[in-house]
Amino acid sequence: MKTFKKATLLPLVMSLSLALSACSSNDSDKKADGDSGNKGDNKKVTIVYARGKDVTKGTAKMVEAFEKSHPNIDVKFREMPSDTGQQHDAYVTAFNAKSSEIDVIDMDVIWPAEFAQAGYVMPLDRFIQQDGIKLDEYNQGALAAAQFNGKQWALPKFIDAGLLYYRKDLVKDDQVPKTWDDLLKQAKELKGKGGTKFGYVMQAKQYEGLVCNAIEFVAAYGGKFIDEKGEVAVNSPETIKGLKKLVEVAKSNAVPGNVTTFTEIESDTAFIEGQTVFLRNWPYEYASANDKEKSKIAGKVGVAPLPAGDKGSAAALGGWMAGINKNTKHPKEAWEFLKFMTGAEGQKIDAIYGGHAPTITKLYDDQDVIKANPTFGNKNFQKGLEAAVPRPVAPNYPEISEIIQIHVSNAIAGKETVEQAVKAMDKEMKEKLKK
Ligand code: GLC
Repeated sequence: MKTFKKATLLPLVMSLSLALSACSSNDSDKKADGDSGNKGDNKKVTIVYARGKDVTKGTAKMVEAFEKSHPNIDVKFREMPSDTGQQHDAYVTAFNAKSSEIDVIDMDVIWPAEFAQAGYVMPLDRFIQQDGIKLDEYNQGALAAAQFNGKQWALPKFIDAGLLYYRKDLVKDDQVPKTWDDLLKQAKELKGKGGTKFGYVMQAKQYEGLVCNAIEFVAAYGGKFIDEKGEVAVNSPETIKGLKKLVEVAKSNAVPGNVTTFTEIESDTAFIEGQTVFLRNWPYEYASANDKEKSKIAGKVGVAPLPAGDKGSAAALGGWMAGINKNTKHPKEAWEFLKFMTGAEGQKIDAIYGGHAPTITKLYDDQDVIKANPTFGNKNFQKGLEAAVPRPVAPNYPEISEIIQIHVSNAIAGKETVEQAVKAMDKEMKEKLKK
């Protein structure tokens, strides 16, 4: 993987590719439809792959393996903002300008409908057919999340679901909090133990991650924002109860005083620096917090389902998939890379080094994967993934999300009561969905 040009290697690579092309019998000067447009099939092509910051070694290892098995394709990594909303906006700007600078992107599960409709990414059906990709090997929910209008716009890389992490040296496995009340109590009591500064860390900044945290509280108490039919269902006693619990936790002295600036990045840092007893984060945290090179708590990482409300424990469904910029100049190479990342070999590397939960189901029986990430071998974890709560699928999802972000933030800041926030969300969401 290159984030900079390896000038010193260039002469070697060039003479190597000249030698290779001399041996080639392919007529590669043609620029047929779907051709990469590069002179010489054996000439090295560089594609740009963009995704948010990866705090694990997953991406680097995956790119390294791809480049090794595809000596004619170099992958240049473009790090995008890790806040999914900011990342989304950067792509929208680039793709609206028809930029071909980026070839392959990772897409959040909440984007495909919008990106397909706007024509930012290309349908992959032709490639999938040509290469006989076995779609039945994928988790069907994750696969469906990448479909829109009967076409496959991306292939799923990993599934995310919210989890509770804890310090095994401070919390015994049989005492891990089972309910949100219990979590709050223990977080307050244990804060300060073992050099910690916080009891609990969550994502409470006004951004998409807050929507995920809110969905988890709301669903744990039996509430919803929007129902399965796509209708607004936010104004209910259950949703109010769930949001009140979120506000109670976010305002408590168990969490950092500036928790409303916390995204996943700050949360991961606090945990691996040994600053917090409990943490809510996605599956990759296990790999990140057990990375001895950077984590102060490697080997002390416990993981459990999120605490329950009256109706049980609920995790928000997240995840990422890979798609190809419609204006790429290298569709063939972009597809080769996408196929590798989303295929069994790439996903296995990412599961082991990145802690990411695979979308190819047979990898949950792979002993190397389970050894690196024992949670993946746990049937309850797999069931938890299936039960995770999705966000509404709509081309205008960002607008719906923004309404939730604003009013949940207002409730945390005390600018609105939870009842007022819920009323406002109900009205504003109904207006958006009417359009
Ligand atoms: C994770 C999830 C993604 C979600 C984001 C929110 O990256 O995979 O679906 O939107 O977190 O911060």
